[in-house]
Amino acid sequence: MGEGIDKKRMNFLPAEKINLEKFDCRGRILDIGGGGEGIIARRFGERVVAIDLSREELEEAPVNDALRIEMDARDLKFLDEEFLTITSFFTFMYMSPEDQKKAIREIFRVMKTDGEFFLWDIEIKPHDGGEKDVIVIELTVTIDGEEIKTGYGVYWPGKEQSPESIVKMGKEAGFRIVEVAENPNSFFVKMKK
Ligand SMILES: C[S@@+](CC[C@H](N)C(=O)[O-])C[C@H]1O[C@@H](n2cnc3c(N)ncnc32)[C@H](O)[C@@H]1O
Repeated sequence: MGEGIDKKRMNFLPAEKINLEKFDCRGRILDIGGGGEGIIARRFGERVVAIDLSREELEEAPVNDALRIEMDARDLKFLDEEFLTITSFFTFMYMSPEDQKKAIREIFRVMKTDGEFFLWDIEIKPHDGGEKDVIVIELTVTIDGEEIKTGYGVYWPGKEQSPESIVKMGKEAGFRIVEVAENPNSFFVKMKK
């Protein structure tokens, strides 16, 4: 993440730990933005269909039994009600609020009744106009006894988001909110159709 970007532009949020050891879910999993480290596919392998706008990000993800498809979350090519579980692991931070709304409506459409959407992401406050215009979080993710150290960074202006903004979009799309958990700078939301 962030190769070639001047460190002076980066606003580093304090590093956080995400433990997915106990995270469980049902059925076939659609992972939105599943390139990069491919965290969800590392945990659930062949149960995962990982989609990403970027072919390069999918190619960079570790190869396992997950199915990888280049696809836009705002325009999913699946029929209605195909997945019991949908995940988004630090992907919404890469979308504008308008794109998030489109994606969450699509997520609702392709989810089976009784299905669940799990989202992990960072809280992004409005940009302060300063020279630091790239927001970065460093994470240690634990899965299957392994600690994966990674960092996710994105161009900051126009990317405000919070648990409240995601919950509001989820409700507007038709979801019922089951759980909201907040860390200092990241959060987790579970929604149900
Ligand atoms: C850095 S990854 C997030 C971490 C990743 N889930 C992992 O396990 O490491 C975020 C991904 O979201 C993808 N993305 C952004 N907007 C998207 C969209 N509209 N549809 C699908 N993928 C998108 C980006 O291409 C990027 O690969």
